[in-house]
Amino acid sequence: MAQQRDISHLVDTLTSDPNSWLSQPIVSVTQITASGLNLLYDTAKSMRTLVKTKGGDSRLAHKILATIFYEASTRTSCSFQVAMMRLGGQVMMVDASPSGNTSSKKGETVLDTVRCLQCYTDVTVLRHPMEGTLSGVLGEKLNKPLINAGDGTGEHPTQALLDLFTIIDELEIFEEDKISEEPLVIVLLGDLKHGRTVHSLAKLMARTQSEFLKRPLVLRYCSPTSLQMPSYIKEYVETYIKQNGTYITQEEVGSIEEALHGAHVLYVTRVQKERFSSEDDYMAVKGRYIIDEETMMKAPPKMIVMHPLPRVDEISPTVDNDPRAAYFRQMENGLYVRMSILALVLGKS
Ligand code: NCD
Repeated sequence: MAQQRDISHLVDTLTSDPNSWLSQPIVSVTQITASGLNLLYDTAKSMRTLVKTKGGDSRLAHKILATIFYEASTRTSCSFQVAMMRLGGQVMMVDASPSGNTSSKKGETVLDTVRCLQCYTDVTVLRHPMEGTLSGVLGEKLNKPLINAGDGTGEHPTQALLDLFTIIDELEIFEEDKISEEPLVIVLLGDLKHGRTVHSLAKLMARTQSEFLKRPLVLRYCSPTSLQMPSYIKEYVETYIKQNGTYITQEEVGSIEEALHGAHVLYVTRVQKERFSSEDDYMAVKGRYIIDEETMMKAPPKMIVMHPLPRVDEISPTVDNDPRAAYFRQMENGLYVRMSILALVLGKS
C-alpha cells in the first residue's frame, strides 16, 4: 500500500517571486502557491508565443539537463529534452531502465547516480518506479535542482501543472476575470489507485480552488472498486478543505453516465498494467471504461476530454477528431510548462 511521503518541509515554497524557484527541487504539487501558478502560467504563455513566433531563444545556452529515467517515458522525457533545446540548452539522456546500460546494473544507488551526474550538469529530471525515491534523494541535500518526472504511484507534479494549465486554457476560465458561483466539475476516471497523475492533480486542484480558480470545485472519482482513489489523497483534500475553508466536494461514482453529468473535464487514465502483482488482477479490470463516439454523444457539449497519455484502449481513436478531445493539445502544453519550469529553476525566466 502506497504511503504518503514526508515532504512536509516542501509546502508553499514556490511563489510569484522568481527567486523562490531558483535552484529549487520540484518534487510535489504541495510546493506551489496560487501566486506561483500565476507566474508559471504567464511564463508558459510567453513560451508558447516564443515557440510559435521564433522557435525559441538561447537563454539556457551552456546549461545542461540530465534526464535520468528508470521507467519508460515518451512525453515527459521528450518534452523536457525539447524544452531545454528550445531555450538553447543541451541534454544528457540517461536510460537507467533495466534494458539500459548504467551502473544501476552493478548495484549503484539512485542517490549516487544522481549525485554523480549532477557534477556534470545543471538540472536533473528523474523518473523512478518507487514512490518516495525523490524525497530520499532530496534528503541528502542535492544542491542542484531535481525535478520529479514521476515516482511510482506517488506524484507527477509537472504533469499536474500542465494539466491545470490546459484546463484553464481550454475552458477559458480567466477570460471573464471574475469569481464564478458555478462549480467546476472535474471527473477523474480509470485507475485512480495507481495513477500518479491523478494523485497530483487532485491535490493541486484542491490547493488552487479558492485563491486561483475562484469557484466551487467538484472532484468526481469514477473507477472500478479495486482501483479507487487512495484514502490518503481523499484525506489530503478533506484536510485542505477543513483547514482552508475551501468549497470542494469529493464524489465517488461507478458509471460513466453518472460521471458525465454536468462535467466540464473528463480526465481519463489508463489501467496501469505494470503496477499489478498478477495478470489476472489486471485482466479483471482492463477495458472496464471505454470512451467512444457513443459516450461523447451523452457528454456535455463543452466538456473537454483529457488524458496524460499513453492510452491503451480507454479512449477510442474515433474520438480524436471531436473538438472536445483535448489530449494532444494538453500534451503540447507540456512543452511550454516545462520550458517555464526549467527557465525558473535556472533563474532565466
Ligand atoms: C503518465 C505517467 O507516466 O504517469 N504518463 C505521462 O507522464 N504523460 C501516465 C501513464 O503512464 O499512464
